[in-house]
Amino acid sequence: MNLVFMGLPGAGKGTQAEHVVERFDIPHISTGDMFRAAIKEETPLGKEAKSYMDQGGLVPDEVTIGIVKERLAKDDCKHGFLLDGFPRTVAQAEALEDILAESDRKIDHVVYIDVARDVLLARLTGRRICKNCGATYHVEFNPPKEEGVCDRCGGELYQREDDNEETVANRLDVNMQKQQSLLDFYSDRGYLRKVNGQQDIDQVTDDISKLVRGQL
Ligand code: AP5
Ligand code: ZN
Repeated sequence: MNLVFMGLPGAGKGTQAEHVVERFDIPHISTGDMFRAAIKEETPLGKEAKSYMDQGGLVPDEVTIGIVKERLAKDDCKHGFLLDGFPRTVAQAEALEDILAESDRKIDHVVYIDVARDVLLARLTGRRICKNCGATYHVEFNPPKEEGVCDRCGGELYQREDDNEETVANRLDVNMQKQQSLLDFYSDRGYLRKVNGQQDIDQVTDDISKLVRGQL
């Protein structure tokens, strides 16, 4: 199963990906996570990506396409993958088609998690992530049992640097600008599946699973 998750920042792509990769046993490929790992390791890629991410802007297409191409060539992607946060521009979507065509692959579904902009600010500023295993929580909507501690592994929870109000507003603007042409691109190709992302997390997971299995 070759899947793409689309949605504005905070729509729930990462949260849903955690469940869906488990159900379908495919790797979770998040360009945001890859950039954050490069920043932590202080690689040249990380240094470049940080300058854009800190402003809430997009990392240039050629850089982003390059890391995804490398990742999709790995063995664990042979039987499927879930791309989270890529593509974000039509140029990235076209490049993805070419990359997949080179190895006779194609996308099965593009799942668009639909959430209104006014809901997203509260979701992003209240998000907390486990330092150890990457699990995602929300101080109000999905709190851990013990404040600041991961339910899964006991790790310490932290707030992402780009989850402050100012950067969030810019991230939303930048992504909204690009999103419509990308939705049109996938709708024209018949890949686009829309899910209501303003339901309980479990309900959204169920809808995505059904939709991917062709039951919705
Ligand atoms: P990235 O890390 O991908 O960030 P993003 O797109 O801004 O998306 P988020 O991770 O913030 O949101 P999400 O949809 O995963 O939400 P989550 O599940 O955590 O990218 C970061 C940066 O990297 C970009 O700004 C850009 O600079 C760069 N970048 C990445 N990809 C790129 C690309 N392709 N091209 C160029 N640049 C790129 O949920 C959010 C919160 O809501 C959580 O607290 C969660 O618990 C809560 N929540 C989730 N679902 C629900 C629900 N149903 N009800 C209530 N609360 C919920
Ligand atoms: Zn954890």
